Amino acid sequence: MGVAILACQATRPPIYAASDGFQTNQSSGSAVQDAAADVAKAGGELFGQNCAFCHGRDAMGGETGPDLTRATLVLTDKGGDKISEVVRDGRPQKGMPSFNFSSEQLTSLVAFIHSQAAKAKAQNGGRRGDPFANEKPLYSVTADNMAQHASKLTEGTVALLKKYPQSFRVDVYKTHRTAAAPQHAGGRRRH
Ligand code: HEC
Repeated sequence: MGVAILACQATRPPIYAASDGFQTNQSSGSAVQDAAADVAKAGGELFGQNCAFCHGRDAMGGETGPDLTRATLVLTDKGGDKISEVVRDGRPQKGMPSFNFSSEQLTSLVAFIHSQAAKAKAQNGGRRGDPFANEKPLYSVTADNMAQHASKLTEGTVALLKKYPQSFRVDVYKTHRTAAAPQHAGGRRRH
């Protein structure tokens, strides 16, 4: 799936232009996929130099910048329209600077961000941070069956169930004990 997106980017003509110190694919110039990978790679370098200290090297969020791989703006971006606009204009009030990139540079940045978004999606089935995303609850406590589970409910929960009998429910899952550290815990370096 990531490949399809990249291939799409690669058919945009400016990518092949060897301007602005941009590297073309010397070895196998005809392979669209290689070219797309190269563009994303060039974008990755640009991203590393200009964006990573806010958005993280992998674009998945940093100290000050949000995760771009799950941003609605990125996921609904078509061929760079939305991303380019934000990068060009910035959002100075909100801590996102504006940048003066050539369209080739923007194209490569966009390719990189989309490839990271595709990776994030593939790795996490679209839902990052929930290792048990496909799990079904063991049972759900609702206003109808709350009496049955009363011993396990707190007063607050009971009150909520009574107050919102139509919409409030408690899904009970099996307990898992995992020692998996969150992805960020590996001491990722920022420059
Ligand atoms: C100084 C920190 C900083 C740098 C450097 C930076 N950004 Fe941002 N960026 C932000 C912040 C903060 C926001 C969120 C702004 C907001 O709340 O609207 C943002 C938002 C964005 C968004 C919009 C996300 C959304 O969901 O609306 C995109 C796309 C983006 N940045 C791309 C980039 C790219 C590409 C670069 C490098 C060329 C970059 N940023 C460099 C801080 C930064």
